[in-house]
Amino acid sequence: MSWRAVAPGRVNLIGEHTDYNGLPVLPIAIDRAIRIDFRVVGEATVRLDSPMARFAPFAFQLRRPLEAADQGDWSNYVRAAARGLLEHGVELRCGIEGTVTGDVPIAAGLASSSALVVASALALLKANGVVETISRIELAELMARAERFVGLRGGGMDQAACLHGIAGHALRIEFEPLRVTPVAVPRRWRWVVASSLVHAEKSAGARELYNARARQCREALEGVAGVASVGAGAGRRAEGVPDDRREERAARGVAATKRLSYRDLVAEPDLDGVLRRAGRFLAPGLLRRLRHVVMEGRRVALAEEAVRNGDMGRFGKLMVRSHQSLRDDYEVSTTELDEMVEVALDAGAAGARLTGAGFGGCVVALCEERAAAPVMDALAGRFYAPRLGGPPGRDVMFTARASGGGRVG
Ligand code: GLA
Repeated sequence: MSWRAVAPGRVNLIGEHTDYNGLPVLPIAIDRAIRIDFRVVGEATVRLDSPMARFAPFAFQLRRPLEAADQGDWSNYVRAAARGLLEHGVELRCGIEGTVTGDVPIAAGLASSSALVVASALALLKANGVVETISRIELAELMARAERFVGLRGGGMDQAACLHGIAGHALRIEFEPLRVTPVAVPRRWRWVVASSLVHAEKSAGARELYNARARQCREALEGVAGVASVGAGAGRRAEGVPDDRREERAARGVAATKRLSYRDLVAEPDLDGVLRRAGRFLAPGLLRRLRHVVMEGRRVALAEEAVRNGDMGRFGKLMVRSHQSLRDDYEVSTTELDEMVEVALDAGAAGARLTGAGFGGCVVALCEERAAAPVMDALAGRFYAPRLGGPPGRDVMFTARASGGGRVG
């Protein structure tokens, strides 16, 4: 008897580089997925192959400790899923043997790796008859932690989107604790996804750049703890301390009693004031990172409101601001991504931005139904024709539909 595990990729609509800072994101799961066709085997072994040339066949034993293969080896995503389940105490007595296929473009910022991790976990759970013993939220958290085994200190957006996708809906995903709220997207909104043709390999070059951003965000938050007048934490402790003393404390990096969070900052009524004061202490690079994260956090809430109101113009403007901030403050864009955003906007998209971690990968453009074709034509003519000498394939540019989440059966 054979089974199939299916796990979709995702396109993040807005809320980039916010998840690992504990702030919400707003992605869709898409109608492109990683599939594992498998049969259950009696011994605890995973044996998978793929028709895709870059994915060599592999096999490993389901027992602890489960070692990683060489960096960049695709089996690591499957190993990560198995290791996550084993460490969670799931008994994996049976293994799987099968084939991996899929149509999520690889290394394109569309979470193909998380889709592979999630599909592997679903296949292993099914093989051992325990799919129902673990909730989707639990599995999403577990797989987010497990994928870090591969090296990227990712947040939890990709795995949560992959497991919670719903046709026709965006997903507001909140963290600490993980929560997913579906938000219906107006039927006539179209999401054009287009690759910059620059690969952003999570397990390779992009990994260090990404992890460095996560580190800088933590440093920036520590640096600003003394100047934020927020909520219960640092602010209250600093209240009654004259301004110059407060600033001096911050300059010396005096830690707050309660840890300041990005969530506190997003809720701060005088955010401009905090950022201005922070500018006197933080290195300019750290200030830019911090500013991106908090402003992007605010944009997610505004964007969700715009979806609920069916306000495409507003949503589009927020996407454009998000892109500018990722380009100027977070410094994860590329000249290709910037150019594509310009072309899409010129051709009538309501908004466009890079999606995913950046450093290459894709842009997503929001269009009216009738504007999708002109936007795609403009990208084909102005961006792809000079680079590819012809039209882009279906792997390079397509319209994505908000779709259902991972499943096995
Ligand atoms: C990668 C990570 C996600 C998220 C995005 C940036 O896709 O896996 O957790 O941080 O980058 O928003």
